[in-house]
Amino acid sequence: MDRFKGKVAYITGGASGLGEKAAKEFAAEGAKVVIFDFDKENGIRVENEIKNAGGEVFYFYGDVRKADSVENGVKTAFEKYGTIDFLIHSAGILKDGMIHKLPEENWDDVINTHLKGFFLNLQACAKRWIDYCRVNPKENVADYPDRRVITISSQAAEGNIGQLNYSAAKAGMLGMVKTAGLELIRYNVRTHAIMPTLIETPILSDLLSKEDGKWRKYYSGRIPLGIGEPKYVSQVILFLCSEDAWFMNGEIIGINGGRLDKV
Ligand SMILES: NC(=O)c1ccc[n+]([C@@H]2O[C@H](COP(=O)([O-])OP(=O)(O)OC[C@H]3O[C@@H](n4cnc5c(N)ncnc54)[C@H](O)[C@@H]3O)[C@@H](O)[C@H]2O)c1
Repeated sequence: MDRFKGKVAYITGGASGLGEKAAKEFAAEGAKVVIFDFDKENGIRVENEIKNAGGEVFYFYGDVRKADSVENGVKTAFEKYGTIDFLIHSAGILKDGMIHKLPEENWDDVINTHLKGFFLNLQACAKRWIDYCRVNPKENVADYPDRRVITISSQAAEGNIGQLNYSAAKAGMLGMVKTAGLELIRYNVRTHAIMPTLIETPILSDLLSKEDGKWRKYYSGRIPLGIGEPKYVSQVILFLCSEDAWFMNGEIIGINGGRLDKV
């Protein structure tokens, strides 16, 4: 399928899990893909796997918490491929802790990765998109190049025990998406957040394997359709970047495995 032929997808956290799956699906559907991640080994692995499958991709080593690193990644993508059509912010970490014991550095790291990382990437792309529109003015919004921004929030945005930092970051993203949706639609940029429930990826391997699988059993029982697979998320990301989602902006989409209550 060539649904995204000629398009450029820029994926933070593309070296693993949900970002990796989205990178592979975009490449399989004709997009040029940039993987931005600070895990070099897996970044190169995913780059090679996509190339071996016939896709167009490059891996860029960088850290979403650092403005100069984010700027370099976005600048390099624009130089190499001419633009970024889809910004997907999937870089993420967990540093859980109960409120009374949560170290300040765990707060900072989680907020900086998810929330500041989204801000820095969004800003680096938006300023280039806006500059383009100002130099090439059009009467109708829809005549500007069609851009999409998707950030991965979480069901934990609604609260989760032991995740004060993570739920703050994921809830913060929801406000950012509404603001970006309001500000950027005049440049034909649509911004969305998705809120997955538990999906089987390396970020959860510690939680799901500890205490003889006690937590795997617990969560499997709480999600009617079971712990999810990365494809349940990537197919929504690709939909939100497709023609079929052209009339949507500023949406927050749950990917909940049928679970409507809290964890
Ligand atoms: N897996 C789930 O159950 C689940 C559920 C809801 C939301 N999410 C969110 O989805 C996103 C992707 O998670 P995942 O499950 O794919 O995890 P993952 O650990 O498999 O992948 C995360 C990637 O982000 C990269 N990364 C982390 N910090 C970075 C930084 N500072 N700079 C650059 N790269 C960095 C890691 O190297 C890794 O490759 C995260 O934001 C996570 O919070 C995951």
